[in-house]
Amino acid sequence: MENIKAYVTQHKDRFINELIELLKIPSISADSAYSQDVLNTADAVKKALLTAGCDTVEICETPGYPIVYGEKIIDSNLPTVLVYGHYDVQPADPIELWDSPPFEPVIKKTEIHPDGAIFARGACDDKGQLYMHVKALEYMVKNDNLPCNVKFMIEGEEEIGSTSLAWFVERNQEKLANDVILISDTGMISNTQPSITTGLRGLSYVEVEVTGPNRDLHSGLYGGAVANPINILTKMIASLHDENNHITIPGFYDKVEELSTEERAEMAKAPFSLDDYKKALDISEVYGEKGYTTNERNSIRPTLDVNGIWGGYTGEGAKTVIASKAHAKISMRLVPNQDWEEITELFTKHFINIAPKAVKVKVIPHHGGQGYVTPINNIGYKAASKAYEETFGVTPIPQRSGGSIPIVALFEKELKSKTILMGFGLDSDAIHSPNEHFGIFNYLKGIETIPLFFKYYTEMSK
Ligand code: BES
Ligand code: MN
Ligand code: MN
Repeated sequence: MENIKAYVTQHKDRFINELIELLKIPSISADSAYSQDVLNTADAVKKALLTAGCDTVEICETPGYPIVYGEKIIDSNLPTVLVYGHYDVQPADPIELWDSPPFEPVIKKTEIHPDGAIFARGACDDKGQLYMHVKALEYMVKNDNLPCNVKFMIEGEEEIGSTSLAWFVERNQEKLANDVILISDTGMISNTQPSITTGLRGLSYVEVEVTGPNRDLHSGLYGGAVANPINILTKMIASLHDENNHITIPGFYDKVEELSTEERAEMAKAPFSLDDYKKALDISEVYGEKGYTTNERNSIRPTLDVNGIWGGYTGEGAKTVIASKAHAKISMRLVPNQDWEEITELFTKHFINIAPKAVKVKVIPHHGGQGYVTPINNIGYKAASKAYEETFGVTPIPQRSGGSIPIVALFEKELKSKTILMGFGLDSDAIHSPNEHFGIFNYLKGIETIPLFFKYYTEMSK
């Protein structure tokens, strides 16, 4: 497969331009104002898969946004790789913090990406990464280098909880039958030290509403005499962590898997500079659970974070008012063995329990999902490792990530296959943030590395 490098070099301008076109469509799944754009993106992905060499591609309807399913089956005796990705993106706001419009992609050089990076919402998460697979397929098909069967399942609701995908997977187990699932929707340590993601955290996402008086009140006439829902809510939230930054919900840690000293020592070997980390975020200190390092806090430990909080008067000037209601959105990142539905229940019970009688509390569960850890002794991991080693000249390090792709645990349950997470993004690529970008180097390296995974996986399956 020497010619993959040559193929990428020869076609790289087109590869970049095609991705730029895909990035121009604002496929924001969370905002119904963009629903036609989400549907148009599904069509664009279908066209791209057909052009790249899939034999059939369907737009599969679901109760929500459709799933683009494509395949190229060359021999039923050969292994089948199922590629998953998502064509939806996060909302772009706060829009005023973008240096260029989120859906008008531009290429700019950065310190970390001296070859340039494409700046646009979805550049890294996940359009850029899913498109690497489309172009890797193009290479394999056009050069008679596809060593096994391939199926593509690209969804449009990952950023809002993959509800329709769960529905689809339950109903299409035969169609989706595979030997291994391959996903590029995570990151790696750096462009000189690749890593393979071996774990994802689970998630429980809830919204809370605290109601005090039945209407907004004059804060002079009533202040001090009735419960202020915002005061109460912030107090309740503050009590969810103790002085060591442990979460105080009873039972929250009961099922948390504690890593052995050896495993923690192994983790600590990954290259990491606390100074660079602080500098990149412009913070003078890190902050988190006592007894754990930064990399442990953001991968093997569960967390609880307020994602949004609102209520009362936030407009211009001052308005003296005690709001009737206060709200917050809270996410809990979970580690293997913690069950997200159980954690949601523990949270709900506790939150209602700690509320003073002067207010009413409602907890509305949103989405969630289980965490995932993958062993490194299977051929999927080994094939991926060999592929990175060849294109980067460095053995990749296995690393657990703090992010979540809840559908991965469901794949294992429903389709009985392991997932290999070959991500090419960097933490500094600002996914979900203003100025999201994806390095040109990373994009092209991904296209180069993926066919090698197919090659080694097929060889190792024999
Ligand atoms: N691709 C991310 C998850 C990710 C990013 C995992 C980097 C590891 C490294 C995915 O699109 C995502 O944003 N997931 C959500 C969860 C989802 C249920 C909204 C997340 O992690 O917040
Ligand atoms: Mn993603
Ligand atoms: Mn995302």
